[in-house]
Amino acid sequence: MALITFSSPMHKDKTVYAVAGSHTQTILALAKEHHIPIDFGCQEGNCGTCLVKVSSVDGKRRPMGGPLNPREVAALLEFGHITKAEVEQMYVDDIPPTQWRLACQMIVRDEDILVEYPSK
Ligand code: FES
Repeated sequence: MALITFSSPMHKDKTVYAVAGSHTQTILALAKEHHIPIDFGCQEGNCGTCLVKVSSVDGKRRPMGGPLNPREVAALLEFGHITKAEVEQMYVDDIPPTQWRLACQMIVRDEDILVEYPSK
């Protein structure tokens, strides 16, 4: 099981378990399930309201979390959180190029991560 720690300057940190290997549960779904108040809007990767910062708990490496999907790429490009060069490199490395993620799009993997919100 992966441990997901949600951290915000406005709320008490909360660590929850994610179902390992489900490959369907998003950060936002997990947050909602545990009553963690991450802002959201469209839930489809378009509005950017659910922007969070994701890092490995040990801080030594970039979290895997799977590469960005096309909606996440489009939104993060639009909001200036990634560059086209980083996107191209992501397809080579097969890991996300940034810590900025959309909570409604990032699928939880079997890794312990820190999710910081709100990120703006
Ligand atoms: Fe709109 Fe996630 S809720 S992008």
